[in-house]
Amino acid sequence: MRSSIPVIACLVSSTLAQTFQRLGGCPDLGCVFPPDQADFLAGQYFDIRLEVHSPVNGSEARTGEPDQDFKFTITKKDGKPVPATKYFEIDEPELESWNFTWYEGKDPQPKHGPGRKLIETDLFAQDADKPSLVNVTSKIYRRVALYEPGEYEATLSYYGDEKTVANWHVRDLSTKRRAKNVVMFIGDGMTTNMITAARLIAHKSINGKYMTKMALDKFPILGHQMTHSMDSFITDSANSATALYTGHKTTVNALNVYVDSSSDPFDDPKFETISEIFRRRNPDGGVGIVSTAFLADATPAGLAAHTSDRGEYDHVISAYYEGLTKYEWTNWDGPDVLLGAGAEDFLQSEETRDYYNLFAEKGYNLAWNNTALHDAPTDEKLLGVFQKSNLATWLDRNVYQANLLNQSNYPDGSGRDAEDLPGLKDMTLKAIDVLHDRHGDDGWFLMSEAASIDKQMHSLDYDRSLGELLELDDTVRATIERLKELGELEDTLIVVTADHGHGFDVTGSVDTEYMDAQDDDRSKRNAVGYYENSGLSQYTVAGPNSLRYSEGVHFPSRWDPRYTLHSGVAAFPDHRENYQVHSEGPRTPAATTNDKKNGYYASYKDAVTGFVVNGTLPLDAGQGVHSLTDVPVFAQGPCQELFGGVYNSIDIFFNIAECLGLSEIKDKH
Ligand SMILES: *[C@@H]1O[C@H](CO)[C@@H](O)[C@H](O)[C@H]1NC(C)=O
Ligand SMILES: *[C@@H]1O[C@H](CO)[C@@H](O)[C@H](O)[C@H]1NC(C)=O
Ligand SMILES: *[C@@H]1O[C@H](CO)[C@@H](O)[C@H](O)[C@H]1NC(C)=O
Ligand SMILES: *[C@@H]1O[C@H](CO)[C@@H](O)[C@H](O)[C@H]1NC(C)=O
Ligand SMILES: *[C@@H]1O[C@H](CO)[C@@H](O)[C@H](O)[C@H]1NC(C)=O
Ligand SMILES: *[C@@H]1O[C@H](CO)[C@@H](O)[C@H](O)[C@H]1NC(C)=O
Ligand SMILES: [Zn+2]
Repeated sequence: MRSSIPVIACLVSSTLAQTFQRLGGCPDLGCVFPPDQADFLAGQYFDIRLEVHSPVNGSEARTGEPDQDFKFTITKKDGKPVPATKYFEIDEPELESWNFTWYEGKDPQPKHGPGRKLIETDLFAQDADKPSLVNVTSKIYRRVALYEPGEYEATLSYYGDEKTVANWHVRDLSTKRRAKNVVMFIGDGMTTNMITAARLIAHKSINGKYMTKMALDKFPILGHQMTHSMDSFITDSANSATALYTGHKTTVNALNVYVDSSSDPFDDPKFETISEIFRRRNPDGGVGIVSTAFLADATPAGLAAHTSDRGEYDHVISAYYEGLTKYEWTNWDGPDVLLGAGAEDFLQSEETRDYYNLFAEKGYNLAWNNTALHDAPTDEKLLGVFQKSNLATWLDRNVYQANLLNQSNYPDGSGRDAEDLPGLKDMTLKAIDVLHDRHGDDGWFLMSEAASIDKQMHSLDYDRSLGELLELDDTVRATIERLKELGELEDTLIVVTADHGHGFDVTGSVDTEYMDAQDDDRSKRNAVGYYENSGLSQYTVAGPNSLRYSEGVHFPSRWDPRYTLHSGVAAFPDHRENYQVHSEGPRTPAATTNDKKNGYYASYKDAVTGFVVNGTLPLDAGQGVHSLTDVPVFAQGPCQELFGGVYNSIDIFFNIAECLGLSEIKDKH
């Protein structure tokens, strides 16, 4: 396996025990990105960023300027070190320099300086507002690739005899294409626990045996992926989308770049995504992107954008529009079909262009409502933006439709309400029809995201989150049917996974009538029934909101039974809980006072009849947060066998790339 040089390991142990980091992925004063242990697809384009740090003060302080004359070599296993310029046949880039500050944090551990001298650190540096200052010199090599599978050492030599070695691994994958099409579903934030709860409320069981199964339950292959990021064990959706689409783990908030220490969010070292590689290698292949989030959000953005800051929404939309042609990376020319919400980022404003017009000029049809989506021709490119912000949840679109009124969210910016809304299923099936019509011969890649499983988990709105999960399941079922009708099922790899979890589970039932009748918080808790008192799911008993319950479509027949689920997450802000569906709109469990310093408090009106649950998160968190759990991977179709077992999030990228035959192996010398 890959070895690391002992002197590096020793340095790592003295500095890595901290939460606050000078620069993630860079434990030494010399930084190499892609960092140690990076994996690559053969032929995948990437940039290399080198940095040499000279901390001016703080625990690592040293005297003198950062090195102006560092060296960088690439060593293929058993070969000789070759200067990178020679290895990649490129010019030496210019030396850049800048400085940055960081907090050494709340870590009370004593630290060792470069000379191994024990240094007193400022405890609670952030509270004391004492940042440490670092001067930096840097170089970046743009758009290189490694074509020979195997092990490499990328070595940065600086300050005379200091070395930082990054061990790189180019995977040896078959170049034979086995799937014509790929559909990748991402249930954002979805865990096995949520699937179990969704099954309980939507599928009838008799004496402990389910009479029907979820579409996900019927997949032949189940795996588990580890979601850790490069420099933190809890990830966000930007970082995890990057891992799933590129095979590279990065830092929270980053999309398809490693985060360097410069302040520019666009100069960081990039690497190529599955959509870019697929299009570059198959110029006649199709790409589709569908999400129930605003389209500038991280999971859809991960197929187009390259930035260290997922909040650069205009960059994301312009990356869909222009692709990366300005970096001369690819002939990626934007997706064939792009469906979702977030109209605010497409409308002209003082800072942004009129993207609707620009997309139309480029040959896209525009759909602003479900009727127009269904009517749109399938042989032309399609942009569908159905409302401002995130798409209304399945529960609001299908059960509590009054919540769609008075939102002033029609995507044309006119201030009307968006009422004729598609769901994930409408959008996904339309995307498949467009991709099949336009690229039926050369194949296509589609990503479809159920975004509000995550968004509603954040706001502790478990009913809405599980509604989104059931909509995803129904979409997967309908996708399989549609592919069968089109004669494409056998040639299509379908992967359903998540990007991270939330600490959600169900521990019993709640007698909501009993709870409402109690006056004080402690007696209200006696409404919770655990073990034998959990009873049976009341959600599948027909009630006033009775919905379709046949033909393989499964949702609860009612959302407001007397006995509801006793559900919760592992970490939360102060809030109140009455375990009842929020029929008047999505939850806001915690709110701030005018004085933001005091943080979030429980919102009384969110659950008037409930009791107070004191929070466990820092006061600045008004919502729940992501959790550590591995997440499930369901696969069927060509290459399905690659997805069984327990593996890393990046393996999803490598498996899909292998199945599409995207590995480009060449003997360099
Ligand atoms: C840090 O860099 C600045 C220029 O960017 C320079 O003026 C300063 O002397 C440097 N400080 C140290 C301690 O090297
Ligand atoms: C940091 O860099 C900025 C410009 O890049 C410069 O103006 C400033 O003087 C530097 N600060 C120090 C302390 O070197
Ligand atoms: C480091 O130097 C900067 C700039 O002079 C200063 O603002 C900061 O407080 C110093 N930090 C420490 C830990 O001494
Ligand atoms: C749907 O969009 C079409 C095309 O823009 C428009 O003519 C129609 O009025 C819209 N329908 C609704 C209900 O907004
Ligand atoms: C929408 O707003 C109008 C006028 O502001 C009000 O009369 C109506 O009750 C509101 N409807 C809903 C469903 O809130
Ligand atoms: C919640 O915390 C407050 C103090 O912040 C305390 O007064 C109150 O008793 C706690 N309530 C519960 C239900 O634990
Ligand atoms: Zn989230």
